[in-house]
Amino acid sequence: TLLTPAVAVTAVTAIAVPTRSVASLRTFATTTPKKAKIMAILYKGGKAAEEEPRLLGTVENKLGLSDWLKQQGHEFIVTDDKEGPGSVFQKEIHDTDILITTPFHPGYLTADLFKKAKKLKLCVTAGVGSDHIDLNAANEHNVTVAEVTDSNTSSVAEHVVMSILLLIRNYTPAHEQIVGGEWDVAPVARLSFDLEDKVVGTIGAGRIGRKVLKRLQPFGCKELLYFDYAEMSKADSEALSVRRVEKIEDMVAQCDVVTINCPLHEQTLGLFNEELLSKMKKGAYLVNTARGAICVAEDVQKALESGQLSGYAGDVWNIQPAPKDHPWRSMRNPLGGGNGMVPHISGTSLDAQLRYASGTRDIIKRHLEGSLQEPANLIVENGEYATKAYGSRKN
Ligand code: NAI
Repeated sequence: TLLTPAVAVTAVTAIAVPTRSVASLRTFATTTPKKAKIMAILYKGGKAAEEEPRLLGTVENKLGLSDWLKQQGHEFIVTDDKEGPGSVFQKEIHDTDILITTPFHPGYLTADLFKKAKKLKLCVTAGVGSDHIDLNAANEHNVTVAEVTDSNTSSVAEHVVMSILLLIRNYTPAHEQIVGGEWDVAPVARLSFDLEDKVVGTIGAGRIGRKVLKRLQPFGCKELLYFDYAEMSKADSEALSVRRVEKIEDMVAQCDVVTINCPLHEQTLGLFNEELLSKMKKGAYLVNTARGAICVAEDVQKALESGQLSGYAGDVWNIQPAPKDHPWRSMRNPLGGGNGMVPHISGTSLDAQLRYASGTRDIIKRHLEGSLQEPANLIVENGEYATKAYGSRKN
């Protein structure tokens, strides 16, 4: 259905890392052949991409990898056609050695597709966030998943701060008035506040969460809070003037603004449902630039329309591209504002595109040369999770 999250994460019950013996791993050629088949799933940039070569993450500009790969004799397929068994993605995956995807136009590599991808050795996420790859299946099939860690975390953190401000100041309806030829201060000002003296909390205090907290320092918030199973060092929490809250329900109940900055995995899929939303302060704001499916779409819509939330903003959707009738496009609070949604753009500024394109090249270069990857870029490797960010597993 429209609102079924199209994510590759496995069922909620499959929290533990699958136990495997080496013998149960499928047998792969251990090295990528000299002439590899590499496939990239990117979005179409059209005229904008033809006119602006720095739009690297597009089908047209191919992450700037085309000449480099072809000079080395590799086959490089670039497509935006990713849905259904007839798509280029699903037809070509069976003999692809290296798959490049982005979270912006995600090619969902499900457990079923992993079974077909008999030659696959490496999945590279050009960006940050590899939930569109079934990571448990990647482990089972001994495929490495790497992403360009930190390539767009500042870009997202800036977007989060912007979204908090535009919601709390009631910016969007004010701007719509101006475009529509109107001038009426009171209906906008009746739901416009200062960020100063408000409580802001982040779900997840990794790279983005911390950058958001850092950028909030000069606003004079009443308190900054975080919820994360990984505890910050005392030095870090003091430097960011942030207090840890151990239960998510307790944190959201104290916040005027909640920002979501954790990955999508089995424990965060549908985390913000009716129940958790009802524990938030009445009239609070929620900003989600992490992943759409961390929130239950209909429950967010109801919370906004009832006034339980005064605003919801973000750039990530449970289905991407979002269908024309997705409720998050048009939902509003009872006063007609509170919607700060945009397409998936926060992590894809031109500065970010340059960083994740060059990081993708570096990951592929290392793989083809057989040299070690940057440890921070590895999500799964050798059948194990290489990061603790995708669930509180004991690895
Ligand atoms: P990170 O790995 O540095 O930090 C993630 C943090 O979330 C970790 O501290 C981890 O312990 C915590 N976490 C994981 N599960 C949690 C849970 N159930 N409850 C509370 N905390 C939990 O990752 P980074 O770089 O900060 O990125 C976070 C996410 O942001 C990415 O996984 C991606 O989904 C999203 N993102 C979105 C972008 C966009 O364009 N909208 C661009 C980049 C990232």
